[in-house]
Amino acid sequence: MSNLIDPHTKPLPSLSAHHIDPHSYPDGIAFLDGQYLPMSQAKISVLDWGFLHSDATYDTVHVWDGRFFRLDLHLDRFFGGLEKLRMTVPFDRDGVAEILHNCVALSGHRAAYVEMLCTRGASPTFSRDPRDAANRFMAFAVPFGSVANAEQLQRGLHVAISDKVRIPPASIDPTIKNYHWLDLVRGLYDAYDRGAETALLLDFNGNVAEGPGFNVFCVAGGRL
Ligand SMILES: Cc1ncc(COP(=O)(O)O)c(C=O)c1O
Repeated sequence: MSNLIDPHTKPLPSLSAHHIDPHSYPDGIAFLDGQYLPMSQAKISVLDWGFLHSDATYDTVHVWDGRFFRLDLHLDRFFGGLEKLRMTVPFDRDGVAEILHNCVALSGHRAAYVEMLCTRGASPTFSRDPRDAANRFMAFAVPFGSVANAEQLQRGLHVAISDKVRIPPASIDPTIKNYHWLDLVRGLYDAYDRGAETALLLDFNGNVAEGPGFNVFCVAGGRL
């Protein structure tokens, strides 16, 4: 069989003018390109480097009983990450805070998982130079969801210590919130295979690093 792409050998599929999304999404509101949208309408390009390279940073803040928990600290870390990754967003802290408030208010949720994120974006010319990409800011508010369900929150979770080592700080600065999750996800599947419900990943020195979506604290000898 030839590898030549010849449009005449066989009828080509028809070209769709618009994407029709067959999937469903949680009830919530997103902010994207200056617009507030239902979650089902919030889409990014397949060329976005946030998706292709995990070239993105984010922060998540919880809303309990209609109030943000420590929003200022989450904004600090988000803007710190942007600076370290040399990304820019067209909003200052107050602007981002206002967008997050609007997402929550429009969603109507009193307990929400709220995320602000910025991807490297894409270059209009498919330039491979990250400096040519137009960074993209997004935010969303969906119903709050924990890594543990209601029953697990009561009785605790069965945890397996993974043999996957968490990506080290020398490679990815963990103070930049990031989506480098393949070690965590593989650790999670290993844990499921072993009958556990979640995983803990260690660092290269054998110390507990973190789990998929959570930190770990230990009380020993009365001290945290
Ligand atoms: C991998 C990972 N570790 C820990 C946490 C805990 O959150 P924080 O980064 O705010 O400490 C999260 C939450 O997003 C996470 O995804």
